[in-house]
Amino acid sequence: MDDQVDKAQILVASNRGPVSFSVADDGSLAFRRGGGGLVSGLSSVAADIETLWVCAALSDADRKAVAAAPEGRLDQAGFDLGGARVRMLDIAPETFADAYTWVANSTLWFVHHMLYDTPNKPGFDATFRHQWENYRSYNAAFAEALVTGAGEGAKVAVQDYHLALVPRMVRGRRPDLRIAHFSHTPWAPPEYFRMLPTDVGRELLEGMLGADHLGFLSSRWADAFLECCARFLHAGVDRRARTVQFGGRIVKVGVHGLGADGAFLRERAEADDVAQRRGELRELVGDRKLIVRVDRTELSKNIVRGLAAYRELLATRPEWRGRVTHMAYAYPSRGDVPEYREYTAAVQRLAKEINEEFGTDDWTPLILEVNDDFPRSLASYQIADVLLVNPIRDGMNLVAKEGPVLSLEGCAVVLSTEAGAADDLGKNALLINPYDISETTEALHKGLTMPQEERRARCERMVEAATALPPQRWFTDQLRALG
Ligand code: G6P
Repeated sequence: MDDQVDKAQILVASNRGPVSFSVADDGSLAFRRGGGGLVSGLSSVAADIETLWVCAALSDADRKAVAAAPEGRLDQAGFDLGGARVRMLDIAPETFADAYTWVANSTLWFVHHMLYDTPNKPGFDATFRHQWENYRSYNAAFAEALVTGAGEGAKVAVQDYHLALVPRMVRGRRPDLRIAHFSHTPWAPPEYFRMLPTDVGRELLEGMLGADHLGFLSSRWADAFLECCARFLHAGVDRRARTVQFGGRIVKVGVHGLGADGAFLRERAEADDVAQRRGELRELVGDRKLIVRVDRTELSKNIVRGLAAYRELLATRPEWRGRVTHMAYAYPSRGDVPEYREYTAAVQRLAKEINEEFGTDDWTPLILEVNDDFPRSLASYQIADVLLVNPIRDGMNLVAKEGPVLSLEGCAVVLSTEAGAADDLGKNALLINPYDISETTEALHKGLTMPQEERRARCERMVEAATALPPQRWFTDQLRALG
């Protein structure tokens, strides 16, 4: 038999895959196809080229689905990825938890988003060393699946900080493959990256440099990566050409911004469930102005300071009392990480305080929703007067781009300078320092009082910038960068 049969020519590897499972009431397995740029990007090429997506089983239901599938290859029944096959890896729960919860989300995510409360954390002890071993094993499991699933000369697109060691592992075994790695997060500057144990930092950088091409969402993050390579590996870095010379090879570092999927969003927003939510929201908000935010409950999203700014708005500009509603969607995320649980509690406490301080019998100033409801988010984008996006640090932030695309009357966007999206939306948004609560308060006021004409004009320009790089293009650019 030809051993190239079934081998893929394009492979994607990411921790979170394009499909997830849950156990339905009758005990059967139900699936959900994930959204996001990568799914639509890969689907758009899968019809013509043999493609394979390697991801991890993230829940017990995922594990059940894998157990029922030959070699973990999920069949296509029901979830259409344009013909792409999916291989879900059932990694031992302890290995997975160490790699995902502790190394990826509690360490690497914290470093790249500069989230540590440094007098207390981090501290790298024997437990961390053990977790790091498991991070290696988890990366090795992905590398194994890619090496065995790839056809001769195939292109492999590895995603994010979970899989930083994969490029080097794959190259060691399959030098014929063309390997890309893409970071969806910021990259830490050397002064912060150096907190990692020296050998761990080096292993991460060397792992990524096993790729032919390394992609970042903003020139800020790409340049920080180059500085880390120069500082910690003494690699030959050409800052203008954005190349790293290391281990006898030259690795190209590229900036590939990611835009909103305008076509998908507009079509999805036409559906009845969105219209229904829009009706309910309009009834709730009445003729008040509406401030919206949509985030995972995530430390880097800076929800607490955003709520504090709203409180300051009501305190210092009493004319807004009774005339504005703030819908804050803070969806559950990474509940296994203690800091996320504490942060969720802090968000809920502050929300309660604001409503106790300012609420009246016929006005609830702040509505905090914690259950994920995609059509409700879309409906909120449609009718928001102001969208608040104030992360401390964010690779891109697609909310800032998706909101304007769906806005019916034109919305103002209060946007952190520290989000990659600020590179693209620029001064058409109301840019703020995310630590400056008073500046955020003033920007909210400015957004709420902006003349309709100006708001619409700025919003139109933001839509143009936000949709300039649709996900399909972002994905094909990554492949093209591999030659
Ligand atoms: C960020 C990361 C993604 C991740 C997502 C959700 O956008 O760059 O890789 O999938 O957060 O986080 P989660 O831990 O729920 O997958």
